[in-house]
Amino acid sequence: PINLRGRSFLTLLDFTPDEIRYLLRLAGDLKAAKAAGYEQRRLNGKNIALIFEKASTRTRTGFEVAAYDQGAQVTYLGPSGSHIGHKETMKDTARVLGRIYDGIEYRGFGQSNAEDLAHFAGVPVWNGLTDSFHPTQILADFLTMREFTHKHLSDVSFCFLGDAGSNMGDSLMIGAAKLGMHIRMAAPETLWPNRDLIERCQALAEKTRAQITLTEDVEEAVQGCDYVYTDVWLSMGEPADLWRQRIELLKPYQVTQEVMEMTGNRHAKFMHCLPAFHNAETVVGKEIRDDYGLDAMEVTEEVFESERSIVFDQAENRMHTIKAVLVATIGA
Ligand code: CP
Ligand code: NVA
Repeated sequence: PINLRGRSFLTLLDFTPDEIRYLLRLAGDLKAAKAAGYEQRRLNGKNIALIFEKASTRTRTGFEVAAYDQGAQVTYLGPSGSHIGHKETMKDTARVLGRIYDGIEYRGFGQSNAEDLAHFAGVPVWNGLTDSFHPTQILADFLTMREFTHKHLSDVSFCFLGDAGSNMGDSLMIGAAKLGMHIRMAAPETLWPNRDLIERCQALAEKTRAQITLTEDVEEAVQGCDYVYTDVWLSMGEPADLWRQRIELLKPYQVTQEVMEMTGNRHAKFMHCLPAFHNAETVVGKEIRDDYGLDAMEVTEEVFESERSIVFDQAENRMHTIKAVLVATIGA
């Protein structure tokens, strides 16, 4: 029997394949229970702190609604207004919040902040995205893949095009390695995940029979895929003056209708954790947009709005999977 009570959720590296599958099953059950109107409240009387040093739409609302559905209360601590990161260390913040709350969500910069919180709070800490990892997103993505494929996840093949060495690329690679999936990542080699993490995932893959392919070739990555995944070319916290460099590096990896057709799979779906930069001008302004002649960044409007796009199913599943993490770690 799987028991995750009292555990923090900082990276999928800390969880066994069985534990990850358990969280996905629980999320599916909670989603079905809510839809049928018989959800049981397992977080009655719990108090949860939500620390956000970076902006968020899905993660914040996902945590809030998950908590409310289950009978818990939340406090939102945004990028300003608390002493976090200015006047008080993470270690002290952790010891304060640990006395008052039953669990703490952390979205911010360094993974070490999440680790410090978890070490000193004495209550579970959930990673709502750091520079390194975004593990709750991966649960939502895998639940969504399960819903849209009549296959075991271990038979699913998906590709990631774009900033492969980012929090999303790294986390998808870890998730795929844990669950025995086939992931192919396409990006210029300078943007691949770091060598240590690749080796760690390759070692996991040997046990789970996952396949990890890293390539610079879009066609090699997408052929035969069930899902084509991408994310923004510049993540929160990265300097805006990197935009031109990233556009030059990643322009060939934009997800277009042609790329979707290159899968050779008419059922292939498009995925994105969101927010998506399918309108270049709103993200980088008119000047850069015109210099590169790009209407969109990582995905075209056409693909984003097409029937193949399941991005809003992923977004909804953020809430159900976050709920599973809360119930599993602090639920009654
Ligand atoms: N996908 C995701 O984490 O979205 P937010 O930044 O809106 O939370
Ligand atoms: N890689 C993106 C993901 C956003 C959910 C970022 O960190 O900004």
